[in-house]
Parts: sequence; structure tokens; C-alpha cells
Amino acid sequence: MVEKYGNETATIFHGDCLQVLPKLPDESVDLVFADPPYNIGKRFVEFDDAWPSDAEYAAWCFEWLRQCIRILKPTGSLYVMTSTQAMPYIDLWLRNHLGVISRIVWHYDSSGVQARKYYGSLYEPILFCVKDAKNYTFNAADIEVEARTGAVRRLIDYRKNVPAPYKTTKVPGNAWYIPRVRYRMPEYEEHPSQKPEALMERIIRASSNAGDIVLDPFCGTFSTCAVAQRLGRRSIGIEFQAEYVKIGLRRLRIGTHFDGEELHPLDKSYVRKNANGVHGGAVDDRQAGLFDA
Ligand SMILES: C[S@@+](CC[C@H](N)C(=O)[O-])C[C@H]1O[C@@H](n2cnc3c(N)ncnc32)[C@H](O)[C@@H]1O
Repeated sequence: MVEKYGNETATIFHGDCLQVLPKLPDESVDLVFADPPYNIGKRFVEFDDAWPSDAEYAAWCFEWLRQCIRILKPTGSLYVMTSTQAMPYIDLWLRNHLGVISRIVWHYDSSGVQARKYYGSLYEPILFCVKDAKNYTFNAADIEVEARTGAVRRLIDYRKNVPAPYKTTKVPGNAWYIPRVRYRMPEYEEHPSQKPEALMERIIRASSNAGDIVLDPFCGTFSTCAVAQRLGRRSIGIEFQAEYVKIGLRRLRIGTHFDGEELHPLDKSYVRKNANGVHGGAVDDRQAGLFDA
């Protein structure tokens, strides 16, 4: 069964995306951001992120990807994330259905248990694809970052007809260093794989305009929809676990109650001391474990 909630800017579907997506009209959304379970055995309240084989996981991904592509407007973009080990299956398949524009690496540091016998996993891949490589939204000026090389050293670019100082900003490359969401950050919600607002902000600013519709079939903490709302975009979010739908209703200011329960932000007032007497250690250790895939 699927329940629908919403306000003027955001719609939440509480249900399985494979049931919801077929009901959405063709070519109706401008941007899809899909961050599915990664098939790496994480626990999401009532659901284990593990498929019997890589092939079965890939076949499941192709089902919802087919729907997302149908729903995407001809000028639209699709960003998809998955584990490093599963991404090759998705990449090979998507090449035959969309134009793959960038292969992005979201890189972060770890404060958790350090790997001793292998190279610890400190990145997650993101594919950026479009329907029409000649006609898609890309707001380069809205996502520029500081240009570190020539501009910082105040170099002059003599390759130009009239030599000029290096530009101080640039469009980011495809390796993005953005810290993961930590317990102490205001945006933190209780979820094992919450994506940072900074990551979502870059994607939404670049690949949509004010008033556009952003679709996220695996909302989790509804970061995509919350950032879309803050940036004046509309959103459609799908999530099948009630615990996370509650976060969405509250974060998007759609509702104050769910099944008679009053919705409250996470209470972070109680923080234990760790063995060294440092406040917050116990919680941070627990959280680091959740994120180290
Ligand atoms: C990797 S998390 C997404 C995290 C999200 N991007 C965030 O920033 O919080 C994947 C989410 O998809 C949900 N999910 C898994 N399978 C689903 C399905 N078939 N339909 C809808 N939601 C699903 C899980 O409950 C989980 O919250």
C-alpha cells in the first residue's frame, strides 16, 4: 500500500518505489537523484541491504532505473550512487540508455576504525547522466569553487591574447571532498547512510532551476527534498520505511504527526562520556562504525 503526503513544494510517497514510480507520468521531472541501498549488508531499521547475488541486485537496479529514465524530461539529468563494487554493472547498463557526462568521486575522511590490511574505503562513486548531451541544464556559475593553483599564486595566464590574471573560481572537477554527516552537525538524522546537504546542494544547483521538479526514489532522511525546498525547487520523494517517512514529514514541514505520534527532531541533549572522559566519544564511535563500508 502506498500513502501520499504533501504541501505546495514537496510530495512524499510512503511505499516501495517499484510500486510508486510506474504511476508517475512520462517526461515529468527535471532531475533524478537516486541513492539506493548498496547491497553491502547495512541494516536499515526493518530491512537488510543484501541481495542473493550481484546479478540480482543489478537486475533490481535496472527495474527502477528504467522507470526513472521514462519519467525524466528530455532535458533532464539523473545522478545515481551505489557501492564501488556495484557501480560497474550500473555504469555499463546506463551507457546504453543515457549519456554518461561525469563519473564523480565523493571523497571523505574517516575517524572510525582504520583498515590495517587493505586500503580503507574513503569514497563513493556518483554517475551524472543526461538524456540529451546537447541540451541539458548545467548552471556552472552557481557551483563555482575557489581555483587553487594559478589564482592563489597570483599568476598571469600568458596563453590568452591579452595576458590576464588567472580566474579565482572554477567549476569543480569530478573529485569532491565533502565531509560525511556527523552526529554533531545540525543536519544529522538517525540513518545509516545520510548524504550531506553540501553534496545535494551542488547537484541540485547545477542540474535544476528554481521551480523545477526533483525526484528521489530512495529518500532516507529526505536530504534531497529538504535541500530542493531550501533552493526553491519542488520535490517528489519516495521511501518505504515509516521511521524515515517521519523524518521527511518533519524536515519538509508537511506534518507534525504520523499515526497519532507527534514528530520531534532528534534529541541530542544526552551525550555520554567515553573512557577518556571526552564528551561525545561514545556516540561518535558508534556513528563512525555505521558509515565505514
Ligand atoms: C542509501 S539510503 C538513502 C539515503 C538518503 N540519500 C539520505 O541522504 O538520507 C536508501 C534508502 O532507500 C530506502 N529504500 C530501500 N529500498 C526501497 C524501495 N524499494 N522503495 C523505497 N525506498 C527504499 C531505505 O529504507 C533507505 O532509507
